[in-house]
Amino acid sequence: MARAHRIAVLGGDGIGPEVTREAVATLQLASEIEGFSLELRDYPFGAEHYLKTGETLPPSALVELGDHDAILVGAIGDPRVPVGYLERAIIAGIRFGLDLYVNLRPVKLFAEHLCPLKGKGPKDVDLVVVRENTEDVYVGIGGLFKKGTPDEIALQEMIFTRKGVERVLRYSFDLCRKRGRAKKLTMVDKANAVAAMDLWTRAFEEVGQDYPDITRDHAYIDAACMWMVKNPESFDVAVTPNIFGDIITDLGAMVQGGMGIAASGNIHPGKVSMFEPIHGSAPKYRGQNKANPLATIMAVSMLLEHLGEVPASRTVANAVAGLIQDGRIHSLQAGVHGTDELGSMVAAEVEAVRPVAGR
Ligand SMILES: NC(=O)c1ccc[n+]([C@@H]2O[C@H](COP(=O)([O-])OP(=O)(O)OC[C@H]3O[C@@H](n4cnc5c(N)ncnc54)[C@H](O)[C@@H]3O)[C@@H](O)[C@H]2O)c1
Repeated sequence: MARAHRIAVLGGDGIGPEVTREAVATLQLASEIEGFSLELRDYPFGAEHYLKTGETLPPSALVELGDHDAILVGAIGDPRVPVGYLERAIIAGIRFGLDLYVNLRPVKLFAEHLCPLKGKGPKDVDLVVVRENTEDVYVGIGGLFKKGTPDEIALQEMIFTRKGVERVLRYSFDLCRKRGRAKKLTMVDKANAVAAMDLWTRAFEEVGQDYPDITRDHAYIDAACMWMVKNPESFDVAVTPNIFGDIITDLGAMVQGGMGIAASGNIHPGKVSMFEPIHGSAPKYRGQNKANPLATIMAVSMLLEHLGEVPASRTVANAVAGLIQDGRIHSLQAGVHGTDELGSMVAAEVEAVRPVAGR
């Protein structure tokens, strides 16, 4: 029987629908060429839907999303809605609601001229950050007391569970083994200042006993930011709590060429998972055909790998890498190439691997 995958698509806000349109076209083309079928379903969640209906992400939609094989998201966030409201309800709602505990962020540089670091090239920038995705200060325990008065108190709890830490560590050790590169896992934390992170320190040592072939390395988050700029080649896989991962992955994105290329997966191994560019909705570029869709197209490559469609995943990633390496895509900045132009260039590269009948 032919392979079939059910994919939920949320274009979202700002540039989200434009970049998602190009990414979905790539996905459809790859499926046609590699011989599997797709059942795509669009969901309207985002600012327009919220302003029209008052609905963000209803519980029934979360159940429906969970019934797919994967979810592709453009971006959420709109200046007409209070900052963070839709992002928390929709993006965090899906991450927490579907227990997508791994935020996977490959940081891979395709061409030296895209790297802002002097003297660093593709051989120096090829690492993966694993960000814990369901705990930490993002769980939402806290709030404001006596808001707006001189006595105001703001409190936000940083939560780690042994189960949550252990499962993301195991995923990271396994990933390190699967990559088969330096076989070094760097844990990035701040256990010298945040006592609760002692749980990470102990779990890392204990879980690490099951992976004698993987070197355990450690860096405090402040030093890790320094190393990421000074010696990105010193990283293979890095694992880190949610808030530090949020920050260091933007640093990683810049090292690999910027928001136009950086993609991520929100993963629960073996279950429905969500893939997205790491950029936001960049409202200033909305509807102008200036946004770079490559980050969302690279998210499609990650989605395909998650579905087990490894050749299709490689075809898409190789198409993007090839266009950058041979200079046909010479900049990842908004507006240099059109959104549709970049989508068409990737499509032509993907099309080029289609077997020719009778040959
Ligand atoms: N996962 C998400 O959906 C997500 C992630 C981050 C931010 N947001 C939201 O997006 C909105 C805008 O946030 P922001 O301005 O801080 O971040 P942003 O990532 O949307 O934009 C920052 C800058 O990065 C550049 N950029 C981003 N995407 C690009 C692309 N595809 N091509 C070329 N250049 C690109 C632009 O210069 C842009 O001004 C906010 O509402 C924010 O909360 C959503």
